[in-house]
Amino acid sequence: MCGIVGYIGHRKAAPLILGCLRAHEYRGYDSAGIATAHDGKITVKKGVGKIAEVDAKYDLEDMEGHAGIGHTRWATHGAPSRANAHPITDCTGRLAIVHNGVIENYAEIKKELARRGHKFKSETDTEVAAHLIEEYLKNGLEFEAAVGKAVARFRGNYGFAVLKAGEDKLVLARNGSPLVIGFGRNEVFAASDVPALLRHTREFAFMEDGDLAVIDAKGARFMHDGRPVRRRRMHVSWTADMAQKDCYPHFTIKEIEEQAASIPAALRVDVGRAAKLVRAAKRIHVLGCGTSYHAGLVFKHLLARAAGRECEVFVASEYGESAVMKPGTLVIAVSQSGETIDTMMAVRHARLHRAKVLAITNVVGSSLSRGADANVYINAGPEVGVVATKTFTSQVAVLTKLALAVAGRKVAVNGFAKKVKDVLALSGKMKEIAHALRNTDDFFFIGRSLSAPVAMEGALKLKEIAYVHAEAYSAGELKHGPLSLIAEGIPVIVIAPAAGETHHKLLGNIRECKARGGKIMALSDSSRLLDEGKWKVPMPPVSEELSPLLYTIPLQFLAYYSCLERGFDPDKPRNLAKSVTVE
Ligand code: AGP
Repeated sequence: MCGIVGYIGHRKAAPLILGCLRAHEYRGYDSAGIATAHDGKITVKKGVGKIAEVDAKYDLEDMEGHAGIGHTRWATHGAPSRANAHPITDCTGRLAIVHNGVIENYAEIKKELARRGHKFKSETDTEVAAHLIEEYLKNGLEFEAAVGKAVARFRGNYGFAVLKAGEDKLVLARNGSPLVIGFGRNEVFAASDVPALLRHTREFAFMEDGDLAVIDAKGARFMHDGRPVRRRRMHVSWTADMAQKDCYPHFTIKEIEEQAASIPAALRVDVGRAAKLVRAAKRIHVLGCGTSYHAGLVFKHLLARAAGRECEVFVASEYGESAVMKPGTLVIAVSQSGETIDTMMAVRHARLHRAKVLAITNVVGSSLSRGADANVYINAGPEVGVVATKTFTSQVAVLTKLALAVAGRKVAVNGFAKKVKDVLALSGKMKEIAHALRNTDDFFFIGRSLSAPVAMEGALKLKEIAYVHAEAYSAGELKHGPLSLIAEGIPVIVIAPAAGETHHKLLGNIRECKARGGKIMALSDSSRLLDEGKWKVPMPPVSEELSPLLYTIPLQFLAYYSCLERGFDPDKPRNLAKSVTVE
């Protein structure tokens, strides 16, 4: 959802900012730009397209100055165009700004500024920030006071980095959209998240909502409500190498393959304190979006089956409207990034009703983790591909461990790492199937019980990167409507671990599809179920509890290879971004 970078220090800013923007590109990639301050002037270079395209056209590295800001955009207000690309400048051209988020009341402020003679060059909401700061500077305010006064007028969420000609500092503001500050030797960086800066530093401070920060080459000062505040510095354990593609053609396939290590690592995570919280809670609400929501659904089944406990799972963006809040509620907020605004807003709602919050996230220092009563980190390492792959299985691994721990049980992990590797070896088979289905435009995914969320996750992956229509259903639901869509040749992907108590019923559902011409792709460790398939994906035997961890992997391969078959870039699916920080 837009990546922001800022730099001030002893080195030339533009090449550094460009490198950080490349590492940030998963946050948005429809346009990009950099502004630097030099010799009392601001220079801006920006354009439409991915960073490499903008760089090829404008030579972004070739800019003077030791202070600068950069941006890679995921458009909200105004189509991707050169004018709407950030940095955005004011009327004087002496102020440049980059923004992530949405200024909800920008239209009224724009009218007011236009009446005062400000000339707008873009359709963005961001531009009102540039002109409003300009206005306050004209009225005699200092740089940081002008930024502070401007952001105080905004409704919505934002992260801003502001550069002004003739100033040896950058001013940053955060409300809802993440901003981190990274410390080097005689140089300070800012970015929307940690991985963008890992090449340069592992020492970070995290801005809180409502903070203003001023950075210069020596360090950072923070203010909140006009008063100075301290923000703790943290050392992060991730390294820059962890966020490299290595010899893989795409991050997506690298991250799928990394599950050989990330799933066993997640199964080693300590969930003792979290299990106590769950046991003590009167009621449990699980929140998440997209893939994280699916992980929550797996947890619901496991908690009911293993521990006899009920929990409700909510799509986070619907939580405020649909949850009944009662005392003693524990909210388990699941979010890979820990920055998803829908999840953050749901957590805020829960907090207003005094719920305790347990965060299940991958990113140490993320907004969600900082605001939670307790944290469990899934330890998947940085995930750069826009589609969640290894983080989904790590979420599920941790939540499986948690559900069993609530019941006083442990996960039987003996030999499981080998099974993960065996499933990863199905890559070639899934590639062949993706090739055979390269001209197919409609897919159905079905499963029962724990496999129903796996089916949903498989369909989401295919939609997300292969742009193919895919529906997922709990298999028993098919006959209540969607069966009318099963026609000759429609592939029905069946998640069918033999250990499931419901697989005999699944057999019935498979036959219903076949009778209407559906072509079955069976994922199973039962030869009886595999025999039903036109395409057979033989899986290693596994307990039903651990089956989502294995059965997800072939579906990730299917999406990845289907994406390549159709000629798309799996790391940067259209219209999407890794971290969704607008509602
Ligand atoms: C997953 O492939 C998607 N990119 C998306 O659904 C994602 O899971 C969702 O936006 C939630 O993200 P989070 O886990 O970082 O909160």
